[in-house]
Amino acid sequence: MKIIVGITGASGVVYGIRLLEVLKERNIAETHLIVSESAKQIISIETDYELERIYALASHVYDNSDFTAPPCSGSARYDGAIIAPCSMKTLGCIASGISTTLITRVGEVCLKEGRKLVIVPRETPLSLIHLENMVKVQKAGAILLLASPAFYHEPKSVLDMVDFIVARALDVFGLGMDLELVKRWDE
Ligand SMILES: Cc1cc2nc3c(=O)[nH]c(=O)nc-3n(C[C@H](O)[C@H](O)[C@H](O)COP(=O)(O)O)c2cc1C
Repeated sequence: MKIIVGITGASGVVYGIRLLEVLKERNIAETHLIVSESAKQIISIETDYELERIYALASHVYDNSDFTAPPCSGSARYDGAIIAPCSMKTLGCIASGISTTLITRVGEVCLKEGRKLVIVPRETPLSLIHLENMVKVQKAGAILLLASPAFYHEPKSVLDMVDFIVARALDVFGLGMDLELVKRWDE
């Protein structure tokens, strides 16, 4: 399986990083990573990760301004993309069909090709514009997986809460099932 992972400049860059860690540790999917310029700043604000360490988790890394990279084209064979976290700017661009970055182009390509596009928005409170953009992308085929961890599995750490969202995102690709990242309600 080949999944594009986009990390944008919203709070919660750890969601994208943990996603890459899980996929690499378990060797269950090829990851093609794009990190926005704002995300790079937030990674240094919110985490102790060096960018190179995050890049090393991915199978391939592309610059967010590189429109010659494979993820830019619908003819390249990917199973879909996960944008985690997704800023309101990136969400708005995808909702408007304005692909000024490789990540927004990936969103556009997934929607036009009918591929899985998991968007993990992170903002609060939400304006009407944010909400309308969410409705637009959902109607176009995206799955909106809010960065809104549950508590019924009794998380003991921030990592447990992050893993809940990561597992749900991977469930969309049929990959979350046996990861044992979270205790499921039917277990
Ligand atoms: C510390 C910090 C936290 C931010 N958190 C958010 C956020 O949670 N959600 C959001 O939509 N934008 C947030 N922003 C603003 C975005 O980074 C900004 O809109 C940026 O243009 C997004 O660009 P990108 O989507 O290309 O990464 C934050 C900015 C900073 C510096």
